[in-house]
Amino acid sequence: MQENVSGEFSVNIRKFENRDRGQVRSICHDTAFMGQPATSFFEGREIICDALSLYFTDYEPEASFVAVVNSIVAGYLIGAKSKIAAEKVFQEKIALRLFWRAIRSGVFLKKKNIAFIFSCLKAFFKGGLATPDFTKEYPATFHINLKKEFRGQNIGAALVDAYLKYLKENMVAGVHLATMSESGASFFSKQSFQSLYETKRAYFKHILHRDVPLYIYGKRLVGF
Ligand SMILES: CC(C)(COP(=O)(O)OP(=O)(O)OC[C@H]1O[C@@H](n2cnc3c(N)ncnc32)[C@H](O)[C@@H]1OP(=O)(O)O)[C@@H](O)C(=O)NCCC(=O)NCCS
Repeated sequence: MQENVSGEFSVNIRKFENRDRGQVRSICHDTAFMGQPATSFFEGREIICDALSLYFTDYEPEASFVAVVNSIVAGYLIGAKSKIAAEKVFQEKIALRLFWRAIRSGVFLKKKNIAFIFSCLKAFFKGGLATPDFTKEYPATFHINLKKEFRGQNIGAALVDAYLKYLKENMVAGVHLATMSESGASFFSKQSFQSLYETKRAYFKHILHRDVPLYIYGKRLVGF
């Protein structure tokens, strides 16, 4: 579908295709730290991309969308109709492969990565990783990220619209997502998502010396 969502250039919002995979992974890496590059907290490009995007691009590509400007992927929305099903595939088919890949590539030997993993483990053992389960009323989920230079031009809103239309066509009852980005939270409020839960996380305390917020937003789709 061709959409003119910006006054300045023409943006094509379309379904993700395998040829977009490299560009999607690149944006994924460059926005993984609350819209900034993952290198702030982790060294290991392919590992981060696999952890954050491989399920979506390789196991449920039909639920993902890209915004294309002049043949360049400006941003993406990678989605899953059922978060529970996605997590099952991740645990059964991706996690172990990813673990071995991480060992082989030596990411566990890097100081920055050890500090991040230690921070996550500390939070986990303090019970600080759990969140309420929203999958019954809001089964679907997604991640959305745009390259810096394409933000603030209604492209994000157009990607969300395309995904919500797809979910409704597939009779999915609702969708929820988590974000640590404050600007992401404002964006989802603007898209009429409802705030479901808010907490703080200590993952990045070793870098930022503070907890970061974690917001969960949701939207009911079918039957409401
Ligand atoms: C968050 C993000 C996807 C939003 O996409 P975007 O294209 O920049 O946002 P849009 O231009 O479509 O904004 C749509 C509406 O939301 C509003 N909005 C967007 N970002 C906002 C912000 N930070 N604060 C307040 N409102 C905001 C816009 O003003 C616009 O309002 P309007 O409809 O009245 O004009 C994009 O900025 C991004 O990728 N950011 C970095 C990564 C990130 O935070 N991802 C989300 C977490 S998973």
